[in-house]
Amino acid sequence: MRIIVLNGPNLNFLGIREVGVYGTSGYEELVSSIKEKAEKMGIQVDVYQRNSEGELIDLIQQAYHEKAEGIIINPGAYTHYSYALHDALASVSMPKVEVHLSNIHKREAFRHVSVTAPACDGQIAGLGFLGYQLAMEAIMEHYEKRD
Ligand code: DQA
Repeated sequence: MRIIVLNGPNLNFLGIREVGVYGTSGYEELVSSIKEKAEKMGIQVDVYQRNSEGELIDLIQQAYHEKAEGIIINPGAYTHYSYALHDALASVSMPKVEVHLSNIHKREAFRHVSVTAPACDGQIAGLGFLGYQLAMEAIMEHYEKRD
C-alpha cells in the first residue's frame, strides 16, 4: 500500500516561520516523523513539498496514474482559495485527508474556510505532526476494509 503526502507553500519553512504558531521543529523532522510512522505501519509513503499550485496539481494527477492508495494533503494557504486544487482533488477517487498543523478554526477569519476540504474525505487540524500520523491510520483503516 502506498500513500502520497503533499505539503503546500511555506511548509518547507517549518521551524523558521511563525514558530509561535507552527513550533520550532523543522520540515525535515516532519518528514522523518511521517516516514517513521509509515515504516511502523508497513506502508510506503512518498512525501513532497511544493510552493506552487500547479506542481501540487501535477502530483495529485501523478498519484492517480501511479494508483496510489491515498493522499494526505496540507495545502497551506491554498486551502483557503484554490478552486484549482479543489478540482484536482475532486478528480481522483482514492481516500484523501486534509491536514493542518495549526487549528485553522481558531485563527484569522480567512483561515476558517477550506475550499479544498469538501473534495477530501476528512480534515484534521490543530494536532501538529500527529495529524499526519492519524491521517495515515485513517487511510489504512479504509484500505483494510476495501472489498
Ligand atoms: C496551515 C494553515 C494555513 O492557514 C497556512 O496558510 C499554512 C499552514 C497549517 O498547517 O496549519 O501555510 O495549512
